[in-house]
Amino acid sequence: MKLVSVDKLEPGLVVSENIYTLDDRLVLPKGTILDDKDIERIRAHSLYNIFVEDEKKPVVPKQETAASDTSSSMSYAEKLRNTEEFIKFKQHIEEHADKLEESFRLLANDSMPLDIDKLTEPVYHLFVEAGGTAGIFDMLHNLRDNSDEVYMHSLNVSLISNTLATWMRLPEEKIRLATAAGLLHDIGKVLVSPELLGKNKQLTPYEQKKMDEHVIKGYELVKDKDISIHIKNAILMHHERRDGSGFPFHIKNDQIDEIASIVAVADVYDSYTACTNYRKSICPFYVIQQFENEGLDKYDPNTILTFLSNIVNTFIANRVMLSNGLTGEIIFVNPDHLARPVVKCGEQYIDLNKNKGLDIVALV
Ligand SMILES: [Fe+2]
Ligand SMILES: [Fe+2]
Repeated sequence: MKLVSVDKLEPGLVVSENIYTLDDRLVLPKGTILDDKDIERIRAHSLYNIFVEDEKKPVVPKQETAASDTSSSMSYAEKLRNTEEFIKFKQHIEEHADKLEESFRLLANDSMPLDIDKLTEPVYHLFVEAGGTAGIFDMLHNLRDNSDEVYMHSLNVSLISNTLATWMRLPEEKIRLATAAGLLHDIGKVLVSPELLGKNKQLTPYEQKKMDEHVIKGYELVKDKDISIHIKNAILMHHERRDGSGFPFHIKNDQIDEIASIVAVADVYDSYTACTNYRKSICPFYVIQQFENEGLDKYDPNTILTFLSNIVNTFIANRVMLSNGLTGEIIFVNPDHLARPVVKCGEQYIDLNKNKGLDIVALV
């Protein structure tokens, strides 16, 4: 392993430690064989040096691997993206995101009453269009190129919170609360400056502080409204963590509202797996691995375990790219190592739990 200056990077070098931005966001996972695009991405983050392996490896052209498929051997994701259902779902979720933005603005100006049933109605329509809980992640995983970090994100978090509450077998009333709380959790961002929300570079600590104020601003907006206390709490507490590492109050364990805990998991999962103004989406398997590593400290145990054991099953039959450039289909999920399933690449079965040097780097 050696440390190389970012100016001296060349295609074929193999990343030997996960590369993070200064605020701890993943840029590229360990094991990535760098190509020109990856190098561009690292440079865009103003990083100085990274660790790479001593030996270079041949670069596998990532685009070509996916694009070389003929239509008869289209991947699951490609087939899905061509279905009428997906095209409709995409169009509708984008339309609903625009309407949600308008509603949040009206709510912030006090020019519209806060009617939870009316506001969440589109979420239930989207569920029906996606074919229910089973289909919703198929849709969301294929909508990862949209960088709307507020309104599309709010709809996604609402859909995921609903699904998670359903997986937890919570009573209908709580499922509805989780759905509404997911939709409204970031309402305070309507009061954050558009320049800050649209900034295509990493935020400075001062800007991050301003951004973090969205939880208090959101709570202020709804605190006197006639809605459930759990929705208000979810707005205020969705960035709190059980180990006290969250914000704004660093509260711990059961001080965090049950519905806020559900929204927290849905929020983190959606934020990481979507692309933002300044980084590409992060592979869900990396996020699952992170949840497996530190999830029990930070999130409600029942919530995170239910999420993990169910989410991985939504990837069966999906095609993924491995860090060595091969693509294959997930055919079996190992219940003890959820982020390391068995992948079938051509005739070869690769058990990632036995091949620790290989990781899933993308859904294709
Ligand atoms: Fe938030
Ligand atoms: Fe959020």
